[in-house]
Amino acid sequence: MKKYGTVLITGASSGIGRELALEFGARSETLAIVARRLDRLEKLRAELLARHAGLKVIALAADLSEEREIERLLGRVAEQAGHIDVLVNNAGVGDAALFDRAEWARTRQILHTNVIAVAQLTAALVPGMAKRGRGGVLNIGSGAGLTVLPNAAAYVASKHFVAGFSEALRADLAGTGVTVTQVCPGPVDSEFDELAGSVGGMAGAPPKFFRISAARCAREAVAGFEHGSAVVYPGRAYRFVMRMLPLFPMWLRRRQAASIAARVRGAQMRDGRSGA
Ligand SMILES: NC(=O)c1ccc[n+]([C@@H]2O[C@H](COP(=O)([O-])OP(=O)(O)OC[C@H]3O[C@@H](n4cnc5c(N)ncnc54)[C@H](OP(=O)(O)O)[C@@H]3O)[C@@H](O)[C@H]2O)c1
Repeated sequence: MKKYGTVLITGASSGIGRELALEFGARSETLAIVARRLDRLEKLRAELLARHAGLKVIALAADLSEEREIERLLGRVAEQAGHIDVLVNNAGVGDAALFDRAEWARTRQILHTNVIAVAQLTAALVPGMAKRGRGGVLNIGSGAGLTVLPNAAAYVASKHFVAGFSEALRADLAGTGVTVTQVCPGPVDSEFDELAGSVGGMAGAPPKFFRISAARCAREAVAGFEHGSAVVYPGRAYRFVMRMLPLFPMWLRRRQAASIAARVRGAQMRDGRSGA
């Protein structure tokens, strides 16, 4: 017996989103998978269909950094998939730049993909869930959304949005039958760091030892979602660190972030990089 009717997953063309699609594929009647790279989505679709008899998979290309594309996407979702029972806001992009040296085009891309798209999709799909009295939202935030990290201000702020939004949405939807879970991963193997320009991990993020696979991240995310958890920290060692985080005073975290940022700036000045 499948647990869910239709699940929509953004950013399913790679990393955590792809693994989330494999997890939800076993539990759903229909999957709507979204990203910009349609060829990747089509390959994943074929893989899902081969694994799960009876599963329907709809691959939809959309650039979530464009509000109009999201509107068009929602139209196609309604047409081809009907109502959505579970929304997985996973798509996201990072950065590795001091804010005064960051390119606006990149900052805009981060804010639109990680913030506006999450709010827009949730605003469109959650009212139906609340009316039907069942459903769920699984938001992929980040440990960066619960503290301060240097050299990625727009990304860190975007994940603080996801953290605050998830908690407040969970409160608003209490008693409606719609659950909200936020996942706050630490370092996960995916294309994320390379695309963000932070190969080897974000400045100030937990070291390599804490890195987990995207498959494990997705498995623990779905387990937490099914348990109705408010927050999931995937990976045992990382979970321990995140539970200890409140013991580290904010002044200490600020000081550490500022000192790493000063080192990054110093290195860039020595290399003669002037910034954007
Ligand atoms: N990896 C980590 O260490 C880590 C740690 C904490 C949190 N996270 C979060 O985990 C989530 C998934 O990241 P990941 O690690 O799996 O990275 P990833 O491998 O780079 O995957 C990112 C996904 O987002 C999609 N995406 C990016 N921009 C998009 C856009 N404008 N429109 C539509 N789709 C877009 C990408 O698809 P297309 O390029 O095909 O569009 C891709 O499927 C993100 O929200 C990220 O912030 C990751």
